Amino acid sequence: MRKPLVVANWKMNPSTLAKAKKLFNSIKEGIRKVRNVEIVICPPFLYLPQLVEFLYRCRKSQLNLGAQDCFWKEKGAFTGEISPLMLKNIGCQYVIIGHSERRRHFNETDEMINKKIKAALKAKLKPIFCVGETGEEREREETSKILKSQIENGLNKISKKEIKNIVIAYEPVWAIGTGKPCDPDEAMRMSLLIRKIIAQIYSRSISEALPTLYGGSVDSKNAAKYIKEARMNGLLVGGASLSSKEFIKILKAIS
Ligand code: PGA
Repeated sequence: MRKPLVVANWKMNPSTLAKAKKLFNSIKEGIRKVRNVEIVICPPFLYLPQLVEFLYRCRKSQLNLGAQDCFWKEKGAFTGEISPLMLKNIGCQYVIIGHSERRRHFNETDEMINKKIKAALKAKLKPIFCVGETGEEREREETSKILKSQIENGLNKISKKEIKNIVIAYEPVWAIGTGKPCDPDEAMRMSLLIRKIIAQIYSRSISEALPTLYGGSVDSKNAAKYIKEARMNGLLVGGASLSSKEFIKILKAIS
C-alpha cells in the first residue's frame, strides 16, 4: 500500500513568524514517532524561507514544504505574485493549486488553474490540484458534472507523463471549515468518480496510480476513515493542522 500523504494547509495563519516557527517545530518533534506517512506543510509564502532552514536541520525526514498557490509565469511584471520557480528554488516540493478559497475570493477559473498546474510542473513542483462542488451544486445533484469539468479543464493538455506528478484533492466546499465533514461513503464514491474521469482522459493504470486526498473538516476522529473506508491516499487538513497536538493525533491515527 502507498504511504499516505498528509498536507497541512495553514492558510493565512499563524499571525507571526515566531508562532509559525513554534508550530513547525512542535510538529517536527511530534512526527518522530510517526511512521509511514509523508507530511507536507504549506505555510504562508512569507514563512517558507525560515521554515526551510528548520527542514535542513532535520535528519532524513518525511517532512516537506509546499506553497498554497503560485503564479503561472516564471518572472516579470506581475506585482504581488510568486512564481513556481521561486518556490522550487527556496526548497518547496509541492504547491496547492485551485483551492476553493482561491476560486471563490480571487475568481480563479479552471483556465487559470490549468496554467498554474503547467507552470508548477515545469518548475518540477508537485501540484496538489483541488476540486470539489459547493453545497448548492450538491443539492442540485451537479457534483459529477462539476468534478468532470474542473478536472478536464484543469488538466487540459497535461501529458500522460506529467499527470504522474499530480495529486488530486477532493475538497467538497460545503465541508471546508464547517465542522461538517463528508461522509466516508460519499468520499469513496467521489474518489472512484475522480479515478473514472482520469481513466477516461488518460488510462486505467494512470487513474489507479493517481494519489487522491480528502479535505474538509478533517480531525483526529474522522481521519482514519478516509484512508481505510473511503480509500483515499491521504488528507488535506486546514483548521486541525494549526494545533500540533491535533495534527500529530491525525498522523498517528493513519500511520
Ligand atoms: P478544513 O480546511 O480542514 O479547515 O476544513 C481544509 C482545506 O481548506 O483545505
